[in-house]
Amino acid sequence: SAFPDRLSMNAHGHHGASTGPTRSVKDLIGGPYTGPVRKFTVVADETRIPLASGQLVDAWTFGGTLPGLPLRVRQGETIELKLVNRLEATPTTIHWHGVDVPNAMDGVAGVTQDAVQPGGEFTYRFRAEKPGTYWYHSHQVANEQVTRGLFGALVIEPAAGPVAEIDETLLVHNWNDRLDVRKAEPGRRVRLRVVNANSGTERLTFAGAPFRVAAVDGQDLNEPGEIRDRSITLGGGGRADLDFTMPAHPVRIGGPGTRSALVLSPDGVSTVEQPRHAPELDLNAYGKPKTTPFGPDSAYTKHFTVDLDQGMGFHAGRLGLLWTVDGRVFPDAPMLMVREGDLVRMTFRNKGMNDHPMHLHGHHVLALSRDGTPFTGSPLWLDTVLVRPGETWEVAFRADNPGIWMDHCHDLLHASNGMTLHLGYE
Ligand code: C2O
Ligand code: CU
Repeated sequence: SAFPDRLSMNAHGHHGASTGPTRSVKDLIGGPYTGPVRKFTVVADETRIPLASGQLVDAWTFGGTLPGLPLRVRQGETIELKLVNRLEATPTTIHWHGVDVPNAMDGVAGVTQDAVQPGGEFTYRFRAEKPGTYWYHSHQVANEQVTRGLFGALVIEPAAGPVAEIDETLLVHNWNDRLDVRKAEPGRRVRLRVVNANSGTERLTFAGAPFRVAAVDGQDLNEPGEIRDRSITLGGGGRADLDFTMPAHPVRIGGPGTRSALVLSPDGVSTVEQPRHAPELDLNAYGKPKTTPFGPDSAYTKHFTVDLDQGMGFHAGRLGLLWTVDGRVFPDAPMLMVREGDLVRMTFRNKGMNDHPMHLHGHHVLALSRDGTPFTGSPLWLDTVLVRPGETWEVAFRADNPGIWMDHCHDLLHASNGMTLHLGYE
């Protein structure tokens, strides 16, 4: 295959970690859930898609479109989603990126479930607990499968109802290269949800109106201030929600070098040129501080330091560029072991030359500091920590979701070429 996935090949040999005697398989499955159930069926299929560039691509899709079937539910509802695999010869799964689901619903082939074989199906069931912007994607040979289209948006609306009068989503992906123009009446409150479904870092500029960054990685920011002409940087897998009031002229989000763009326009037709990049918004001091359940001075029961780098070496039988964790590649990278209840501090140090958006499954981490500078604005709860070359990030989380969880670079090529580790519960 043109996209070797060492990760999933190796993952099959990866058994033996236990979740401790007090936990049963049932705990890892979650439920039973009461209350409203939202049922979906998503068919993974092969679909020839014409790109806006004119190129025809053989895509793999969830629901026949690229991006895949948009999922929108309300907080408190139980999602019951049947994945049906109609791909000809390709097993697949669905991972709920950013949703802290019970472990057995996490969709990691070879770790939390067997991949769904062609002709097979699997039903995911979990409760939508935290409102926000998430996405779902294949986690089997993810580098190839997400690149070819197996992804879509998942939006969880608050139990109290919609957050805005107009609610739009932009999934940034190289094959999503249409310029969508959607109608938006002036004066309306708009929520614009942006998901980076590419592996590379995307810098997106929003132009045409003052706005607030209401949420990052699906978690609301505290009192985000109004800004204008700023760009937002999203590592692979990251999300940001922008709030603004629709002006009497078109607004646009996109970026030079980003193929996906969205225009909202009062007449639904007129558009506006992509502006040059505005200065980057620094989330380090954005919004207002607020009490968090733990912080820089808490008593941590575990501390892990993870060094990210690159190197040449043999992996899965071939010589190539590898992305390393503490000088090693998956499956030789360390397994981080915690106990339920542990307060965990993690330090990521990027010693290499590439961005590494580190994505921890099943947990959100609180950003403590970057390069020694504490975060002084709104608490920032991330599921994907973009660690840029030379940077050191300190983050913290509570070990409150037992299971085996991946922690990997969301540049999916990096993940499949070594930069993958696991978090395990004793
Ligand atoms: Cu968005 Cu391990 O994935
Ligand atoms: Cu990386």
